[in-house]
Amino acid sequence: MILKRLVTSSIGRKTIVAVTGTLLVLFVIVHMLGNWNMFLGPDAMNSYAANLQSLGGLLWLARIGLIVAFVLHIFFAIQLNIENKMARPIPYKKKDYVKATLTSRTMALSGLLILSFVIYHLLHYTLGIVQPETFKANLTDSQGRPDVYMMVIYGFKNPLISISYIIAMFFLAMHLDHAVQSVFQTLGLTTKNIFPKLIRFSRGLAIFIFIGYTLIPLSILLGIIK
Ligand code: HEM
Repeated sequence: MILKRLVTSSIGRKTIVAVTGTLLVLFVIVHMLGNWNMFLGPDAMNSYAANLQSLGGLLWLARIGLIVAFVLHIFFAIQLNIENKMARPIPYKKKDYVKATLTSRTMALSGLLILSFVIYHLLHYTLGIVQPETFKANLTDSQGRPDVYMMVIYGFKNPLISISYIIAMFFLAMHLDHAVQSVFQTLGLTTKNIFPKLIRFSRGLAIFIFIGYTLIPLSILLGIIK
């Protein structure tokens, strides 16, 4: 019954988008921190990747949770977006202090670009279809582990790949710029007074994630990580 009300009411669906979005943002932060092992060298990165793989069933549980969150997030976000477009003549009653920013108006576009990026990224570093010759399964380090470090280096040595990742990170930052404050609003955790602070926090987090991720392809392109 609760589940039925959750998926049929507008606020229920907004809550699903907010909660799944929060899980995805947490994943994005944890994944970025994990990827920073690239700055510590091959041993750190390859042990990190090997430790993750050794989680076995737990890793699959996390992957399934991530896929479910991703699918629910996209499905309900698109549905709400279509509904909002159809109901546009009716103005918002309460949130009159919310100005439509560029990032809020382009959430569907940035979201779909992130989806395309994730598909490309999985084909690249998880399935090895983009660059099969330098895929981790075909590269091993001195300890016989999959050489994820060298796989990432080979990938980002290609300027086209690096630039496409950096552009994707820009769209991710655009999406997060509005998404984080939107989660607080949906869950009723904001007031008119703290709203400006929330906007700054969302932007700060989006910029932090953009810089945190783009440092990796940039450092490889500039030869700082070899
Ligand atoms: C510079 C940016 C990034 C780098 C260097 C990077 C690196 C990697 C690597 C090396 C893997 C494969 C790990 C392994 O199987 O050992 C991976 C998997 C993955 N990445 Fe990224 N990533 C980046 C950005 C992102 C972003 C922005 C997202 C999400 C929006 C993302 C989502 C994923 C997902 C969902 C997987 C699959 C995880 C799994 O198989 O369990 N990545 N990434």
